[in-house]
This record gives sequence, structure tokens and C-alpha cells, in this order.
Amino acid sequence: MWQIDQAFTMPYAFPVCFDRDTFNPDNTTLIDQLTRAGHKRHRVLPVIDDQVLAGHPQLLERLSAYAAAHAEHLELIEPALIVRGGEVCKSDPKEVDEFYQRTQTDRIDRHSFALVIGGGAVIDAMGYAAATAHRGIRLIRMPTTVLAQNDAGIGVKNAINFQGRKNYLGTFAPPYAVINDYDLLNSLPARDRICGIAEAIKVALIRDGAFFHWLHDARERLARFEPEAMEYMIARCAELHLEHIRTSGDPFEQGSARPLDFGHWGAHRLEELSDSDLRHGEAVAIGIALDTLYSHSQSMIDAGLVQQVRETLEGVGFSLRHPALEALDIDAALQGFREHLGGELCITLLLEAGRAKEVAEIDLEAMHRCRQQLLESQWPQ
Ligand SMILES: NC(=O)c1ccc[n+]([C@@H]2O[C@H](COP(=O)([O-])OP(=O)(O)OC[C@H]3O[C@@H](n4cnc5c(N)ncnc54)[C@H](O)[C@@H]3O)[C@@H](O)[C@H]2O)c1
Ligand SMILES: [Zn+2]
Repeated sequence: MWQIDQAFTMPYAFPVCFDRDTFNPDNTTLIDQLTRAGHKRHRVLPVIDDQVLAGHPQLLERLSAYAAAHAEHLELIEPALIVRGGEVCKSDPKEVDEFYQRTQTDRIDRHSFALVIGGGAVIDAMGYAAATAHRGIRLIRMPTTVLAQNDAGIGVKNAINFQGRKNYLGTFAPPYAVINDYDLLNSLPARDRICGIAEAIKVALIRDGAFFHWLHDARERLARFEPEAMEYMIARCAELHLEHIRTSGDPFEQGSARPLDFGHWGAHRLEELSDSDLRHGEAVAIGIALDTLYSHSQSMIDAGLVQQVRETLEGVGFSLRHPALEALDIDAALQGFREHLGGELCITLLLEAGRAKEVAEIDLEAMHRCRQQLLESQWPQ
């Protein structure tokens, strides 16, 4: 036997910029990112979520004017590729195929950029397309939903669905840069703005007690979408997610722990059971409530924190009761989550605001009682 032990490491680094009015010709955020790859004229294919375009009808014109003002560094490949926003973009191969097609007809090479402007679904699908065409085209993401700016659009994963299985095809592929332009959120319907707050509550509860208390205090301002509160919520949530990816020692999720998936074992199943009536964030809010009640049932947290979690979730606008919760087969959902993790069950519970603990077993009877408490709004005093 002869063996060569091959080993190398690749450093990954990408900025996540928080910005406004990115396509104002005086704004150099995008140009600064492009010129990191050299002071030359970079070819950029814009890919845009059709709902973002509907909410910002001047976007194409503004992009062209921006490119004209920065012609030295930016060659915009027109027309922009407009894709259907939402989950359809991940489920129907049409948009990914169109992206591949455009890379051929427009001679996009590995040094060109895809500038993807859209919600988490478009970012996921087009990120997958960009990562696989030519084995990887440089990707600049501009997430346009709260959830995409504080979670889905800033990480290292992308995916499309395959034969009804969510996120079945995908890659771990860090982007070249992310630009979170808060102004792009202006056209977002209220329901989608609220949804993204669930991930902030989640990450605060397991990682940052001070942030959780801030969210609790700011719940009414968040419910009114006051820009200052929303922007801090997004930035701090994004920061905590990025910190986790950077420091967990497992950015490409090779182990089976998913510490950031607090409240998610139930959420995934509730989303399916509701036949997508529940958005991800809405299901996560219910999942957080359930796992908070369960943490209390196991004497891990006191009733005061349970109340604060409830006040925060309901205060920002989530409803914690849904018919899907009644239909939830807890045992099957936990089994499903175990398989999703790759073999061993690992459920994140709370020890206090900002501190979590992973457990490998769940007391099913206690969990059933917590579900009942939630359905009947019987919160511990
Ligand atoms: N890759 C990851 O790490 C990761 C993490 C979490 C979630 N996700 C994925 O993210 C997706 C959900 O993303 P989402 O919550 O952003 O929803 P979404 O992308 O489905 O967007 C919701 C709706 O809002 C529209 N929209 C987007 N931005 C808008 C704007 N500014 N104005 C008006 N309408 C706008 C979209 O077209 C869509 O119809 C799911 O597919 C999920 O699997 C990925
Ligand atoms: Zn989530």
C-alpha cells in the first residue's frame, strides 16, 4: 500500500456591508467591493427577484445609471435576469436553467460577477446556480427581506429543492460579498418584515442575553417597524450568525450539532403541516415558544423568562397558536429532525437568556403537555 496524505486549507473571507441607497451614483459600496478584485472593468450580471422589482420599479433604470457613472469599473450585462421570487424559484428548475443559459450567451466567466438582488429563496437558488456554473462564479448577494438580511443571505449555504425535498441540492459556497441595503426592505409586506424577527429572538435567546432583553424592550417599536429598531435588530442578528459560522469550528456543518436551530425541529414540521400557510419565521416563533415551555418543564429556566419570551414573540406580532400545532406528531417530527442532523438527536434548550444547552433526549410526555399549554395559552406564572 502506498498513500499520499493530501491536505490543504483555504482561507475564506467576505464582507457583509450594511448600507442604504446602494445605487445612488455617489455611493461606492458596490464599486469598492468590485475593485477588491482589481482596478479594471468588471462584468456584472444582475439577477433580480421580480417582487423586488415590482416594489422598486425604478431599480433597473437606477442600476443602469449607476453603471454608467462607474463605467471605469463596472460593465453591467443587460438585460438583467428577472426571476420569480419565493420558493418557486427553488422548486422549478426554470430559473436556474436561465441563469446557466445567460452565463453561456453572455460569456460569463469565473472572474465575472453575479449580483443577486432578492429574498432568501432567490438568493439560495441563484447562489446555487452561481456556485455550479463554471464551478463557481463570483457572487455578490443583496438580500431584500429581513430574514435574508439577518440570516439566510449572509451565510455560506445555498440550495434548491428536488422532487419536493427542500434544500436537497446545494453547496457550501461563501459569497464574494454581501450588501444589506435597508432601503430595499421598504417594499416588503408587513408579514414578511415580522417573520425575520423570529430568527433574531432565536439567536438572542441562545447566544446573547443582553440582545434578548433589548428585543423584549423594543418589541413595540419592532412591531411598528421603526427603522432604527429594525436596523439594529437586523445588524445584531446578522453579527451573531456570522460569529457562529466563524467560530463554531464547523462552518460547513460536517458534525451533527446545529446549535442555531433552536426551535427549528418543530418549525420545519409545522411549515410542512400547514401546507406553507405558516411562513418559516412564523413557524420558528411557535417552535421557540414550545422549546421555551419545554425548557421550563425541565426546570432549566424560570417562569419569568418564559413570560418574557411570550411577550417578545407576541409583542412583535407573532401568533403562537395555529391548527398545525394540534396536528403536529411530536415523535415523528423529532425523528425527522434526528435524520436531518445525520443520526443523533441534538435539541437546543435554554438555560437562561443568552445561554443554551444541547440535549440528546426529549421527554415526550412533557413535550405533549407543553404543546397543550401553548394551544390553550396556559403559560406558567
Ligand atoms: N441558505 C441559508 O442559510 C438559508 C437560511 C434560512 C433560510 N433559507 C431559505 O430562505 C428562503 C426564505 O427566504 P425569505 O424569508 O427571504 O422569503 P422569500 O425569498 O420566499 O421571499 C418572500 C416573498 O417576498 C418577496 N420579496 C422579497 N424581497 C422583497 C421586497 N424587498 N419587497 C417586496 N417583496 C419582496 C419574494 O419575491 C417572495 O415572494 C427559504 O427558501 C429558506 O429555505 C436559507
Ligand atoms: Zn430559521
